[in-house]
Amino acid sequence: MDKLMITGGTPLNGELRISGAKNAALPILAGTLLSDTPISVGNVPHLLDITTTLELLGRMGVGLTVDEKLNVEVDPTAIKSFTAPYDLVKTMRASILVLGPLVAKFGRAEVSLPGGCAIGGRPVNLHLAGLAQMGAEIEVRNGYIHAKAKRLKGCRLVLDLVTVTGTENLMMAATLAEGTTIIENAAREPEVVDLARFLNMMGANIQGAGTDVLVIEGVDSLSANGQNYRVMPDRIEAGTYLVAGAMTGGKVKLKDVRSDILDAVLQKLRESGAKIVTTEDTIELDMDGQRPHSVSLRTAPYPAFPTDMQAQFMALNAVADGVAVITETIFENRFMHVQEMQRMGADITVESNTAIIRGKPQLNAAPVMATDLRASASLVLAALVAEGQTVVDRIYHIDRGYECIEEKLAQLGAEIRRVPQ
Ligand code: UD1
Repeated sequence: MDKLMITGGTPLNGELRISGAKNAALPILAGTLLSDTPISVGNVPHLLDITTTLELLGRMGVGLTVDEKLNVEVDPTAIKSFTAPYDLVKTMRASILVLGPLVAKFGRAEVSLPGGCAIGGRPVNLHLAGLAQMGAEIEVRNGYIHAKAKRLKGCRLVLDLVTVTGTENLMMAATLAEGTTIIENAAREPEVVDLARFLNMMGANIQGAGTDVLVIEGVDSLSANGQNYRVMPDRIEAGTYLVAGAMTGGKVKLKDVRSDILDAVLQKLRESGAKIVTTEDTIELDMDGQRPHSVSLRTAPYPAFPTDMQAQFMALNAVADGVAVITETIFENRFMHVQEMQRMGADITVESNTAIIRGKPQLNAAPVMATDLRASASLVLAALVAEGQTVVDRIYHIDRGYECIEEKLAQLGAEIRRVPQ
């Protein structure tokens, strides 16, 4: 397994291009299964989770061509298997996103049940209950979800809690259902909106994306008609590099980014003392060499503060001036990075889903590793401000969600290198 060696202490300075959003590309690639014709998706990030998704589609018999600009040409017409096997689903829970499209388009799917994961239980009961309400016969047998349906029927779904991939799965299924589906308490995340735009480009009739009520008028078929869909920029990647700039007292400019979907994160960065200037597709953060102030926050569904940025702000608070309180409300076990940060000298106390962080002027290098994607990223951030050389192990977690993180950070002046094993 590769490692990252990072020597802390350099304020980051420079410009970066932000990649396409992982959490939009994953459902969009799954959504290509709904198309009657080949379809091209652009701005797909070069990530392990994307490779896993392409492998999953490839094993089903879907035709795939990837060019050097990361346009993915998908030909779903050659599909011959409707199974998402355990060996792929266990490495990426988002594989569950093929369930809705397969049942809606082909009337059957066998998808391995995702197990627990490092950040909590993460059940898929709402995905299954919604599909059952639309008329699918669902059985869980030998660790697999077996789903069958003639044609799904539109209905009114009220989700018990806000689920991002659950909303996406049910929205995709509803595009080809007979009649109207209404999804209430839907996730409002920008990635749900991007998926809805993609599906509407193929002829779907989805209204209300970005609000908590989606109205989907089922159609008989979907087809891309030779159009290319460009995936939106990754707001979590953008947020992570902005925090890196703020923690190191640096100045960072991001390109190919959207500031309108980062309000909660930008507000916290401003509270920490950063000067931020935005245009339609750039964000510039200037910390003016200052140490950040502590910022307290509480994670919640969009448009509130994203759980996927919680660990990075924990790292910022570890070196900030003051005391911060972070409350995690989405996942029950998403403080796995705390113990590793403590090993780097951070002063953090956890009580149930709340962490109290007393900022220190500096952290110390240590060998660290993490068990999930954003936690790993937060350790890289902590290493950027630690005295000495930190070795971050198990970075395949980072490669799942950050495109060339060491190259991008090096471009900003960080002392970082990958050590292959
Ligand atoms: C998505 C994101 C992930 C992000 C998360 C929350 C993708 C590929 N992943 O994950 O990066 O951290 O949203 O913003 O887009 N739940 C249930 N039953 C269900 C479904 C969910 O109880 O059927 C619970 C979960 O355990 C969790 C909460 O709902 O506590 C929210 O999870 P959810 O929004 O579904 O997360 P994901 O879609 O898996």
